[in-house]
Amino acid sequence: MKTLIISYSFTGNNDKLAKAIAETINADFVQLKEKRKRTYLTILLDVIFNRIPKIQEPQKTLGQYEHIIFIAPIWFGKIASPLRVMFENLKKTNRNYSFISLSSGADGVNPNLEKELIQRTGIKPQTVINHLIKEMFASNPSTSRKEINTYKITVDEANDVVKEIITALNL
Ligand SMILES: Cc1cc2nc3c(=O)[nH]c(=O)nc-3n(C[C@H](O)[C@H](O)[C@H](O)COP(=O)(O)O)c2cc1C
Repeated sequence: MKTLIISYSFTGNNDKLAKAIAETINADFVQLKEKRKRTYLTILLDVIFNRIPKIQEPQKTLGQYEHIIFIAPIWFGKIASPLRVMFENLKKTNRNYSFISLSSGADGVNPNLEKELIQRTGIKPQTVINHLIKEMFASNPSTSRKEINTYKITVDEANDVVKEIITALNL
């Protein structure tokens, strides 16, 4: 099965995870880059005004893949806005897709991801996985909210998460 992985990352976690998954399943891999510099303010403005930021569109045609896996962080309960252009492209192409996020979970689970995906693409995703960094600290409950929110996963941790994801994706 020909698979394309499209990732976006602001501080590196989701790109690290995406790279490890792409290497493990031997998928084509694209890291999305934005045209403008991302800031905490523009994260907030995109969420409030439902903006679609400009990205450097990848030179890959979604239509040539049987499964597209999107990987990106969650911001204020929403999927990171730079994926929005790709979701619009997917809507036109109508492909099977999944969504994966490595997010903090500092304020609990993000319950509306599947609903947002269906709203943006018009297609029900095959699989949605939100791996929470908070759970990696379950044995250490004194870890602060700030530490969880700013945690950078190691390559070894990314590889452990990959195993879980491969199983969940049934690959
Ligand atoms: C402005 C902002 C808002 C965030 N909101 C959420 C959230 O609602 N839910 C969540 O689980 N994580 C949230 N996070 C945490 C990120 O999803 C988490 O740090 C993620 O691993 C960052 O991924 P990246 O390194 O690929 O950018 C937020 C982070 C930032 C910077």
